[in-house]
Amino acid sequence: MSQKVDTRVSFAGIELRNPVLTASGTFGYGTEFEDFMDLTRIGGFVGKSLTRSPRSGNPPPRIAETPSGMLNAISIENIGVEAFLEERLPALPESVVVIASCFGTEPEDYAELAARLSESPRVAGIEVNASCPHVKSGGIEFGQDPQLLGRLIERVRAATSKPLLAKLSPNVSRIGDMAKVCEDFGADGISLINTVQAMEVDIKTRRPVLSNVLGGLSGPAIRPIALRMVWQASQAVNIPICGIGGILTAEDAVKFLLCGATAVQVGTANYMNPLAAAEIAEGISAYAEANGFPRVADLIGALDLSERGG
Ligand SMILES: Cc1cc2nc3c(=O)[nH]c(=O)nc-3n(C[C@H](O)[C@H](O)[C@H](O)COP(=O)(O)O)c2cc1C
Repeated sequence: MSQKVDTRVSFAGIELRNPVLTASGTFGYGTEFEDFMDLTRIGGFVGKSLTRSPRSGNPPPRIAETPSGMLNAISIENIGVEAFLEERLPALPESVVVIASCFGTEPEDYAELAARLSESPRVAGIEVNASCPHVKSGGIEFGQDPQLLGRLIERVRAATSKPLLAKLSPNVSRIGDMAKVCEDFGADGISLINTVQAMEVDIKTRRPVLSNVLGGLSGPAIRPIALRMVWQASQAVNIPICGIGGILTAEDAVKFLLCGATAVQVGTANYMNPLAAAEIAEGISAYAEANGFPRVADLIGALDLSERGG
């Protein structure tokens, strides 16, 4: 990596050595990747979403390949918050920035998780996965209803003084409004996007390819949607944004920074290349150097919208 470029960014009160994190659910609890990568090559990682008790996910098939993407309906299979705190977190080097993701069916579940996770000095921040259906509201996801989302963020905000990130669902028509609600109720930053609701069918069996019928689409297929949403959210709020969706290369990541993201998360790419996030971090630095930016932070929001000469 270039020594000339300052790669550090400050994201929602979390100091990152570079702006590249790995996305929840695609990097385990960090420990699984230690054999492949020195985790200090990336800015940090977001762990798999945690629930209060261990939880198994949907039955297989729960993953399918699609053109330029991946469809998953893993659901929130996870080891539970206590195993994460007692077994996984202590196994990670002190210098690795860990953001914990929480998930629940009621705001109270999220709040309890956030409070418990906040007891650990190793947890740098809390990401609220707002893509859980709220049964009492007819199954709509928290992240799809501004009132529900506001109540969720308000409740979690009261439970933690750690940096609080709201991870938004793209399955809405006005992403800027959702981002604004999170800002108004006390989030320190916004992560977006989660997967795009999708489905696929096998015409030989005439069955849906996923046991759950519906799944979430990720990978390069969703990148332009994610980029558009990051741009719109960045226009709507003053809190920082972490861009997620289909980032495979440093060039992809630079696009998110230019559109206003302060940091990015790499998800599906980890399945293709476990070193993807580290290589992306180094590539961003090379881009900054080659284009005369002394600091990677100078790329944030540097999209040129001036009139094109004709
Ligand atoms: C297999 C898989 C599991 C995921 N699990 C979670 C999860 O537990 N919590 C969460 O907030 N997002 C989860 N996601 C969504 C990713 O964190 C990310 O938002 C999404 O995949 C878009 O980024 P990508 O295109 O780089 O993968 C998961 C994605 C995949 C592919």
